[in-house]
Amino acid sequence: MAPTSVFFLMSLLSCTTTAQLIVSPSRSQFFDTQSVSLSCEDEGPGWTLRRNTSRQTRAQCGRQWGKMKGSTCRISVLVPLDSGVYWCESSEGQTRTSISLSVTGGPLVLHSPVLPVMEGQEVSLHCQTHPPSNRSADFYKDGVFVGAGPAGHMTIPQVSLAHQGVYRCDITGVGQSPPSWMSVSGKPTTTPPPSLAPPTPSALLPLLFRPLCFLVVLCPYFISTLLMVSWYRQRRARNRSTRAEMGLDDNSDDVITVRQF
Ligand SMILES: *[C@@H]1O[C@H](CO)[C@@H](O)[C@H](O)[C@H]1NC(C)=O
Repeated sequence: MAPTSVFFLMSLLSCTTTAQLIVSPSRSQFFDTQSVSLSCEDEGPGWTLRRNTSRQTRAQCGRQWGKMKGSTCRISVLVPLDSGVYWCESSEGQTRTSISLSVTGGPLVLHSPVLPVMEGQEVSLHCQTHPPSNRSADFYKDGVFVGAGPAGHMTIPQVSLAHQGVYRCDITGVGQSPPSWMSVSGKPTTTPPPSLAPPTPSALLPLLFRPLCFLVVLCPYFISTLLMVSWYRQRRARNRSTRAEMGLDDNSDDVITVRQF
């Protein structure tokens, strides 16, 4: 029974899922020749990692670009043509958060949050040179100067919806970084409670997925238990008929064991 129980528990664990695109290292801008790993964390079965670039549409990792290793997609040598939008897609075609990655052959990258940040959080921006230096940088939002960062760092202590926009940085005499979109999401209290809105089909899917998952897991468990019980009964019945042939009574298990050896 032990192997089926382990299988049962492991399947249960894999049923409790949340979906997220993980970028490692966690940045949205990269220098030419750097590497990146992407994964669709705990996506349901059959998910794919896809991208749109200037040359590809819905291109799948492992087929048209990158290398799949386990559940991780890796690009070991990034080139500017890898710049684009990346997202996880379920087998039903449902997509989650998409992110933009930029690969530059230039001298600067801006490190800003890859995923949407929650209103009120602290956000740090870093303008990095290649090779690294501590040069002071200027930061721009939607093309407008927003502040100088000594040593290339700038912090927004409490981010608000007004901070959402396209950021880039600039170091005099070095050049400028590619632009990156920073998304700010409002606090949950500012949105209406979900119970007031009618559930959309896409919101229902995860709700359906769990009971389905439990059924799929429970069925093999019960079937294997039933099989084992019936197999055991058949064996007992066969033993009993053997004993009957040999003229022994039903309670002589010990004698049978001894005689078999
Ligand atoms: C990818 O490109 C296709 C075709 O241009 C477009 O319909 C789709 O919305 C794009 N996906 C993302 C996540 O940008």
